[in-house]
Amino acid sequence: MSTSEKFWDRLAKRYARSPIKDMQSYNRTMERTKAHLAKGDRVLEAGCGTGSTALLLAGNVAHITASDISGNMIEIARAKAKDPHAGNVNFLKATVFDETFDGRSFDVVLAFNFLHLLEDLPAALRRVNELLTRDGLFISKTLCMAGQGWYWRVLLAIMRSVRLAPHVSFLTIDELEEFVTNEGFEIIETGDYPASPPSRFIVARKRRR
Ligand SMILES: C[S@@+](CC[C@H](N)C(=O)[O-])C[C@H]1O[C@@H](n2cnc3c(N)ncnc32)[C@H](O)[C@@H]1O
Repeated sequence: MSTSEKFWDRLAKRYARSPIKDMQSYNRTMERTKAHLAKGDRVLEAGCGTGSTALLLAGNVAHITASDISGNMIEIARAKAKDPHAGNVNFLKATVFDETFDGRSFDVVLAFNFLHLLEDLPAALRRVNELLTRDGLFISKTLCMAGQGWYWRVLLAIMRSVRLAPHVSFLTIDELEEFVTNEGFEIIETGDYPASPPSRFIVARKRRR
C-alpha cells in the first residue's frame, strides 16, 4: 500500500465528518461544473473522496464512475449511495491508471481538490486525455499553494518524511495551466473559488490531434 493510500485511508472517517469549509465557493464550483454537463454524459471522477460531489452531480449526467485510491473513502461513499437516486453512480477503488478504464470512454473527467496531490501530474493528465472522447472535457479545481509561507513546505516535508502526509505540490496557477495545456488540452474557462489561497477551477477541452 502506498503512503498516499495509507494516509487517505486513515483520514477517511474524519474527512467524511468535516463540513465543507467554504460553501459559497463549493456552490459556485458546482454551478459552473453543471453548466458544462449534458444528460447523456459518461463521467469519470478522479479522487472522489467520500462521494458527495458525485452524488450531487448524478442527476445531471447519464453515468458517473467515481474513483479514489482509498478503499475507506470508497466504502463511505458506497454507504451514502444507498440512496435510490444514486443508481447511476458507481464507486470504485482505483486511480486514473486503472486498466479496466478504456481509452476514449468518458465524455467528462472531473478532479476536485486532487491534482496537487499527484506525484506525476503530467502522466496523470496524459492518461485523462487518453480516457476522454473526442472533444471531451476535463473539469478540475486545484489548490495552488505556491504563494503560501515557507513554513507550510517545511512542515509538510517533515510530516512526509515520517509518512504522516501525502505528496503535495506547491503550484502556481501558471504552472498548473501549463501542465494542462502541455498534455493536449485547450483551457476554455477558469475561475478562482476561492481566490485566496487560490483554488483554480479549470475547464479544459481535449485538443484534436
Ligand atoms: C482532498 S481529497 C478531495 C476529495 C474530493 N474530491 C473533494 O473535493 O472533497 C483528495 C482525494 O484524492 C484521493 N487521492 C489521492 N491520491 C490519489 C490518486 N493517486 N489516485 C486516486 N485518488 C487519489 C484521496 O484518497 C482523497 O480522497
